[in-house]
Amino acid sequence: MPKVTYITPEGERVVVEQAEGTLMSAAVENQVSGIDGDCGGVCSCATCHVHVDEAWTDKVGPAGEGEKGLLELEDGVEENSRLGCQVKLTPELDGLVVRVVGR
Ligand code: FES
Repeated sequence: MPKVTYITPEGERVVVEQAEGTLMSAAVENQVSGIDGDCGGVCSCATCHVHVDEAWTDKVGPAGEGEKGLLELEDGVEENSRLGCQVKLTPELDGLVVRVVGR
């Protein structure tokens, strides 16, 4: 399972070794500040908004249609915005870095 670095809204780097599930679930399990995952990962709350580090955007891929619709209502949306619950963690994402947008 991949190692993922989350940079919190406060600027703290939280490294999760052996991250499992999705970017959201791994963050919630490891109490990463700024990711709440209020809807449980069904793409309806946007409390898992992250900016994917530029070096990783191709590997992570773009937001899906439903995800884009929800992101449009959010502040701080960038080209590299994703909802963490929609990003499944795979071994290919080992070393991934994301910035937590928070609210
Ligand atoms: S956890 Fe609700 S949209 Fe991701």
